[in-house]
Amino acid sequence: MINIVLMGPPGSGKGTQAKVIAEQLGLIHLSTGDLIREEQKKDTKIGKFATQLIDKGKYLPDDIVIQMVKQKVIDNPKAAGFIFDGFPRTVDQAKTLDEFLNLRKTPLNKIILLDTTNEIIKERIKARALVEGRADDAEDVVDTRINTYKTQTLPVVNYFKTGYLFAGNRGIETIDASKTKEVISEEIINLLKEPEQVEKTQ
Ligand code: AP5
Ligand code: MG
Repeated sequence: MINIVLMGPPGSGKGTQAKVIAEQLGLIHLSTGDLIREEQKKDTKIGKFATQLIDKGKYLPDDIVIQMVKQKVIDNPKAAGFIFDGFPRTVDQAKTLDEFLNLRKTPLNKIILLDTTNEIIKERIKARALVEGRADDAEDVVDTRINTYKTQTLPVVNYFKTGYLFAGNRGIETIDASKTKEVISEEIINLLKEPEQVEKTQ
């Protein structure tokens, strides 16, 4: 069992990398953004509520997102592990995930931060907006998303640097996310190959 958190600002490549790593290691890719977008597509109550917030670059309330994540973990008891993409995004979400996984005796193994500049983020999202048409990729919304990330999610980096509970606390690993997709995937895989992780997955 291996549980990995992939953090980073909007457009830093969390989804791109989580997909590759999940395929290579046989993990479940758990993206809260994707789960929320599914609710929007199905036009559920949560989906309708989400649209009012996401399209303005704001986060959903913690309790809703936490419930979605817990349910997904509980529904997959035989998973080889999870790669959390875009979760946790607030300190309360981080504490809850940390405690929840510890109680299940499947603690977090690695926290990876994809770090890059606002210029690169904006370029990538602008390019994606032309093909995918995500409402929150509109230029003015991207600025709010970046600000929301700074105010609400950067404190999570600190939480993982200093306060988290899981066994073998080794802080947070930062990767330069301005590199190519392939180089970043390789760097992540190498981080996960460190001896302690190999032991845990054998
Ligand atoms: P979410 O869907 O998670 O969006 P995000 O964090 O804003 O990030 P993105 O999905 O836009 O980017 P990414 O980092 O996945 O990059 P990607 O791989 O796509 O969340 C959306 C919204 O849902 C949030 O704003 C919030 O409202 C809500 N939400 C989600 N989780 C929540 C939570 N936990 N709590 C509360 N609310 C929550 O790459 C971007 C583009 O760049 C792609 O086109 C890709 O092909 C390209 N690219 C990727 N890597 C590279 C590279 N190395 N070089 C060149 N191009 C690259
Ligand atoms: Mg994403």
